[in-house]
Amino acid sequence: MKIMVVGGGGREHAIIKKIKENKQVTEIFALPGNGGIAADATCVGIGAKDIKAIVNFAKEEKIDFAVVAPDDPLVLGCVDALAEVGIPAFGPTKAAAVIEGSKVFSKNLMRKYGIPTAQYEVFQDKDKALEYLKTCPIPTVIKADGLALGKGVIIAETRQAAEEAVISMMEDKIFGDSGSSVVIEEFLTGPEVSVLSFTDGNVVVPMISSMDHKRALDGDKGLNTGGMGTVAPNPYYTQEVADRCMKEIFLPTIEAMKEENREFRGCLYFGLMLTEKGPKVIEYNCRFGDPETQVVLPLLGSDLLDIMIATAEGKLTEDIVRFSQESACCVVMASKGYPQKYDTGYPITVDKDFDGVLYVAGAKKKEDGTVITGGGRVLGVVAKGKTLQEAVTKAYEQVDNVKFENAYYRRDIGERALAAQTKEA
Ligand code: AMP
Ligand code: GLY
Repeated sequence: MKIMVVGGGGREHAIIKKIKENKQVTEIFALPGNGGIAADATCVGIGAKDIKAIVNFAKEEKIDFAVVAPDDPLVLGCVDALAEVGIPAFGPTKAAAVIEGSKVFSKNLMRKYGIPTAQYEVFQDKDKALEYLKTCPIPTVIKADGLALGKGVIIAETRQAAEEAVISMMEDKIFGDSGSSVVIEEFLTGPEVSVLSFTDGNVVVPMISSMDHKRALDGDKGLNTGGMGTVAPNPYYTQEVADRCMKEIFLPTIEAMKEENREFRGCLYFGLMLTEKGPKVIEYNCRFGDPETQVVLPLLGSDLLDIMIATAEGKLTEDIVRFSQESACCVVMASKGYPQKYDTGYPITVDKDFDGVLYVAGAKKKEDGTVITGGGRVLGVVAKGKTLQEAVTKAYEQVDNVKFENAYYRRDIGERALAAQTKEA
């Protein structure tokens, strides 16, 4: 089978490596992939947002199955466009991807179907939003409606910061049209859990839970990033919580999407907060999370491609999705300065006794074959262990076997999860 994976980060590398385990796969193309992914797939210089070129390529190469991984092409309708030329793909249609593409849509969906989430108001008018901010509880959370490279959420600790956030989104348009509408919502507290799930629109099968570490610096300080590391499973996500989420959140969401004629097929990501009043949805993503995928897929004990095909065909069953009892940890190695200004172009070397899994997020391959850094997040070093402690220790041991100039990584990935485990025991 010829497979095409749209995207080019660490998440896509993890997907590609897992798909490669399927014996029927003869070739995998990555669009655009990156210099590290090139070790596992044929990289093609087509951007993930260039739907026309993606479809043409898939037609020409007679691709048997496509996986559309990032949010942008999904929201732009890549899966629909592939379907039009008869190429089956894993991922939601444009109509279903709106669950991530519009925060106004997802909040209204949750309100309409009674799915627990933060209280909120929607504003299209800047002055009305500013008026509301005069009396609403502080801190408050301001969210741009549309996609904003993961930066469209501002937590305002003061009334002035909230006003500035609204002005930056609605007047200065820092996120372009994404900020034409904003959601202003209640600030919630509690541990966060990421739950990725496979769903074919009727059946929903959650994957192993995980915990992201979004801030740039140790102790959850510094700027928000695309994610500096992950662990799985997430110790806060007990069986009791999982059962409650299935009943109150996962199934109602799948049903709601069906009811709205937006049947969701693909990976639906539930970003949850475990509040004192129970689990609530912080955000939905219409795709695999990054870097959650880098810890979730190594723990998947069954065949990813089989699951993806079953999902796309509407034939998903629970028994084909099996996870191991182990734990995994991913430490993201970034370029110093990320998520702001950073330099690239430094050679990456991996010691020969490296004994983990390397998922490359941002790298380029030079003509002489050397792989050099090519992004903010450069790679994810992943290790598995019988316990979370073992996975974390191993991952950091392996980080020492990977070197590039100006490398920066957090030293405390998994610490909070380990502390939560101790508390529970
Ligand atoms: P992003 O990945 O940029 O969407 O970041 C969203 C992050 O903002 C979440 O992971 C939460 O940590 C935080 N957040 C979003 N909504 C709320 C909320 N209502 N209350 C508290 N924190 C929130
Ligand atoms: N790790 C969060 C995301 O993929 O959006």
